[in-house]
Amino acid sequence: MVSAIVAVSPDWGIGDGKGMLYRLPGDLKYFRKVTLGHPVIMGRKTLQSFPGGKPLPGRENIVLTRDRSFTAEGVTVVHSVAALRRLVAARPDEHFFVIGGGEIYAKLLPDCDTCYVTMVETEAPIEASVFFPDLSKKRSWVMESASEAHTEENGAVYRFAVWRRRRTH
Ligand SMILES: NC(=O)c1ccc[n+]([C@@H]2O[C@H](COP(=O)([O-])OP(=O)(O)OC[C@H]3O[C@@H](n4cnc5c(N)ncnc54)[C@H](OP(=O)(O)O)[C@@H]3O)[C@@H](O)[C@H]2O)c1
Repeated sequence: MVSAIVAVSPDWGIGDGKGMLYRLPGDLKYFRKVTLGHPVIMGRKTLQSFPGGKPLPGRENIVLTRDRSFTAEGVTVVHSVAALRRLVAARPDEHFFVIGGGEIYAKLLPDCDTCYVTMVETEAPIEASVFFPDLSKKRSWVMESASEAHTEENGAVYRFAVWRRRRTH
C-alpha cells in the first residue's frame, strides 16, 4: 500500500524549493507518529532539505534520483519510478509513505489511495514555488475526515485531513 503525507497552505503550496513553508511542531509530531516504522519515499531534493541532509530515523528512507553516482549513508537509492514500483510490488505487506517533494508527489499520486494532508488555513509566511496537486479540484478524490483545528504558537491554524481516492465501480 502507498499513501502520501504532506502539509499544504490554503493554495496547496508545500515549499519554496529549499524548505517547508511553516514551522509546525505539532505537525512534525503527527508526521512522525504516522510514518514511524514504515518506509518513506522522497526525492533527492527533499532528502537534502533535511538537517544535515540526513535520512529520517526509525524508517527506511527510499530516495529517487537520476544520478547514478548518488549515495548517502542509510538511504536506499532508486533511479526511476518504474524501479520504485517494482520495489513496492515486491513488498505487498508494507505501508509505504510518499513524503515529497513536489515532483515526487505529482509522479506518485496515481499510486496512492490515501493522502494524509495537514491543511493549514493561515497564509504562508513565505511564497510557495512548489505545490501538491489540489485534490479539491480532482473528482477522483474526496476528503473523508478532518480533525478539529489546532493552533501553533506562531498563530498558524491547521487540521489533519484524510483524503481518499473514490472507488470506481
Ligand atoms: N510541505 C510538505 O509536506 C513537504 C514535504 C516534502 C518536501 N517539501 C518541500 O518540497 C520542496 C522540494 O520539492 P521538489 O519538487 O523541488 O523536489 P523533490 O520532489 O524532493 O526531488 C526532486 C528530485 O527527485 C528526483 N526525481 C524526480 N523524478 C524522478 C524520476 N522519475 N526518477 C528518478 N529520480 C527522480 C530528481 O533527483 P536528481 O536531480 O538527483 O536526479 C529530482 O531533482 C522543498 O521546498 C521541500 O521543503 C514539502
